[in-house]
Formats: sequence, structure tokens, C-alpha cells
Amino acid sequence: MRLLVVGRLSGQLAAAVKMAMAHGAKVSHVERTDQATEQLRRGQGADLLMVDYNLDIGALIAANDAERIFVPVVACGVDNDAEKAAAAIRAGAKEFIPLPPDADLIAAVLAAVADDERPLISADPSMQAVIKLADQVARSEASILITGESGVGKEVMARYLHQQSKRAERAFISVNCAAIPDNLLESELFGHEKGAFTGAVARRIGKFEEADGGTLLLDEISEMDARLQAKLLRAIQERVIDRVGGTRPVPVNIRILATSNRDLAKAVAEGTFREDLLYRLNVVNLRLPSLRERPGDVAVLADHFVKKYAAANGVPARPLSQDARRALAAHRWPGNVRELENAMHRAVLLAVGAEIDAEAIRLPDGQPLTGAIAGSDAGPAARAAQTADAVSRAYVGQTVAQMEKTLILDTLTHCLGNRTHAANILGISIRTLRNKLNEYSDEGTRIMAPQTGIATSAYGANAA
Ligand SMILES: Nc1ncnc2c1ncn2[C@@H]1O[C@H](COP(=O)(O)OP(=O)(O)OP(=O)(O)O)[C@@H](O)[C@H]1O
Ligand SMILES: [Mg+2]
Repeated sequence: MRLLVVGRLSGQLAAAVKMAMAHGAKVSHVERTDQATEQLRRGQGADLLMVDYNLDIGALIAANDAERIFVPVVACGVDNDAEKAAAAIRAGAKEFIPLPPDADLIAAVLAAVADDERPLISADPSMQAVIKLADQVARSEASILITGESGVGKEVMARYLHQQSKRAERAFISVNCAAIPDNLLESELFGHEKGAFTGAVARRIGKFEEADGGTLLLDEISEMDARLQAKLLRAIQERVIDRVGGTRPVPVNIRILATSNRDLAKAVAEGTFREDLLYRLNVVNLRLPSLRERPGDVAVLADHFVKKYAAANGVPARPLSQDARRALAAHRWPGNVRELENAMHRAVLLAVGAEIDAEAIRLPDGQPLTGAIAGSDAGPAARAAQTADAVSRAYVGQTVAQMEKTLILDTLTHCLGNRTHAANILGISIRTLRNKLNEYSDEGTRIMAPQTGIATSAYGANAA
């Protein structure tokens, strides 16, 4: 991931930068906030801004917003001033990192924002067959559509394709079409010229140009509106793009990958997706099987995630017990690899003793996986029914809002109050998590404080 550090490089900030680099971040640095915006506008992108809290973070975020540039900001500060930390969070920073930096906190923040190093782990024959196909097409220039249920690893596959491609040494740029509002997505993808709209104070280079020479991943492409679909089609067919407000087409050289967890043929039939665009994107289709369809992957993935989260949390990687392995194999994994990953993350934090026992592997509602499997000699169908039954018994009688609250508070407890970890496991932004916690706190619920000294007061300013 690319980190842009904004502020004077004091000894402490430099130490944080070193840690980030040790975790694989590519770091660049500017002293002032206007230089940061300028660098982003030129298409020298960053996945995360780390900004000294003495600078005007609110103004920086407002300037980026006005130019439709979306990069999350974390604040950092040396003199441990809780007021300034709180002000930075109020101004829109997603997280506060007290300096001198804590290696674990830096690692967690980087991991929460982006992790490029996500190897494609697999042992099951059905997944091996997909990987074989991927290997065959990776080195071509063909557009590839990656489909599959939520959480099966579509983005991981996209990165894998890029790494195996002739463009591996060039940029891999990913745009989540579902996360960005339609009117802003156009600028994000195609860039804009000075004066294209109020706030367009200078030319801004979009993701197509940023990805020039490399690969552009259009994530969740089904969410793109009709007008942008037309613009995208032109970009793919003619290899030129039009910046918003621009008068001359700009040539681009990119390989396009797209993902969807919706059935695009159905979207075409319903008239929400262009048929010609589908044909252009779907030169090759890689359909990733759900985790239920590849039982041979569960154990290798579980072992991988145990190692990953043990390392991230600075605890020894304990082996999974036989019981734990049985429980993992019996579960249905409706949330696929993401659900397995989150369960193993929790297990690493919850496990006591020499092995990770079945008891430590919990569903998000806190129920152990084992509770759902009575009688291990029941057939798969019976086990599935029992699992479904146990899950609905835990849910029935609760409103969705209550379930959500239980899930959020339990996850926070599992993460020892660490907001970044909790938001990561829950799959929501830290801002959303904070808003929810403020809501619960207003209702009189006690919220577990994060364990990193000054961050407590930053959140506590609103939450306590
Ligand atoms: N084969 C794999 N090996 C290692 N990790 C994986 C694999 N597949 C998925 N993961 C992990 O599972 C999580 C979900 O994967 P990913 O984001 O690629 O899924 P997705 O299909 O894009 O999900 P969504 O439809 O929700 O966007 C990620 O944290 C990813 O690192
Ligand atoms: Mg995805």
C-alpha cells in the first residue's frame, strides 16, 4: 500500500514511517496539506494519508472532498494532546496514532486500510481448476470478469491475476464502484479538468490514467450507472478516456479486471446493465466457488489466518486442535472466506492454552461453532440443518437492531476495545463503528474503551 505522510518529519514521525515501511508500505512525504492534495490530484495516489495533528486536517479533507479525491486520513501527534486528537477525529480523521508509534497499532491501521499482501491460498481441486484457468489467461491482455458470492476472494483473485500478468511491475489500481456515489465516481475514474465544476480548482488525474500501463480493477461493477457504463465501454473499445470537462480524449493503456457478486446476465435482462459492456468485460469469466463447494480449502485457509493474526497481534501462533478442525469442516460458511477469516481472527484473540480449541472459534453472535453440531456422525445435510436451526434459535426474538448491537459490542470486546480491529472484523468503516458506539453510549450502554492511552480520550470525548 502507498502511504503519504504529511507534516514535519520529526524523529517520532520518522520512526512511524520506518515501521510502516517495514510492513511493506511505500511511503512518500510532503510537509504541507496543500502539497498533499496537489500530489493526489496529479495521480500520484496514496491509499492512506498520515497527517500531523498540528496541521489543519479538516481543511485538508474538505479540499480533497471538493476535488472529489477520496483517501482516508489518520492523524498522528507527538505531544499527546487529547484535545488535538479529538479535534482531528472530529475533523474526519479515521484513527489517531499517538507518537512515539506503537508497532502493533501501525500494523493494525495499515492492515485496516489496505493489505496488498494477500496470498491466494488453496488446496481444493475445484479452486485449483479455477487457478489453472487464471494462470492460462493472466498473461493475455483480455478483460476478465471475476464472479462469485460475497467473500469468496474475488479481489484476492484480481491481485493474483495482476501479479501473474505482464503488467505485474506496473500499477494495480482498484476502484470500488459500489462505495463511491455516481456523480463522484466519474471524476474518480476519468479525472477532471480545471473548472469542470465548482471545486475543480485544478486538473485531477483519475484512476484510468493512474493505472496507465498497469491493471485497473473495477470492483462491484454491477453498481455502475448507465451513463458511466457507456463511458466505460468507450474507454475499453477505443482505449481513450474523456476527463470530466475535458475537450481532448486521453489515450490510456490498461488491462481491465472487473468483479461482481450479482448475476450480470440477469442485470442485462432487467435492463440495468449494458449487454455490449458485459461482452467486453466477460472475455474470460472466472467463477470462484463458494467455500461450501471447496471443503478442501477450509483447513489450509484456517491455518493461514491463524498465522496471520497471531503475527498481527504479537501472540504465538498456536495450532488448531482436532476438535477445532472438525468444527471448521462442519460449518457452512455462508460468509465464505471472509467469515472464516474473521472467525479465525477472533479465535486467535480468544484462545487460551496450548492449542486453539473449538471453544475459541465463535460465530459473530458469540456462539461457538461446536454448539451447532450435535452428534458428529450426522450426515452433512443433517449437520447443515442443525447448524441453521441453532443459528436461528440464537437470532429469533431479536430485532435486527438488537442483533447488530450485540454483534458490534461482542466484537469490540473480543478486540479488547480496539476500534480498528473491530471495524475490520465487522467489515464496516471506523467512522460507522464510532457512530454506532456513540448511539449505544447515548442509550446508556457502557462501551469498552480502547487500550491505547490517548486514543481513549479521543473517542471518549464523544462516547463517554
Ligand atoms: N484464497 C484465499 N487465500 C487467502 N485469503 C483469502 C482467499 N480468499 C479470500 N481471502 C480473504 O478473505 C477476505 C475476502 O476476500 P475478498 O475481499 O477477495 O472477497 P470478495 O469476493 O471480493 O468479497 P466481496 O464480494 O464482499 O467484495 C479477504 O480478507 C481475503 O484476504
Ligand atoms: Mg470484493
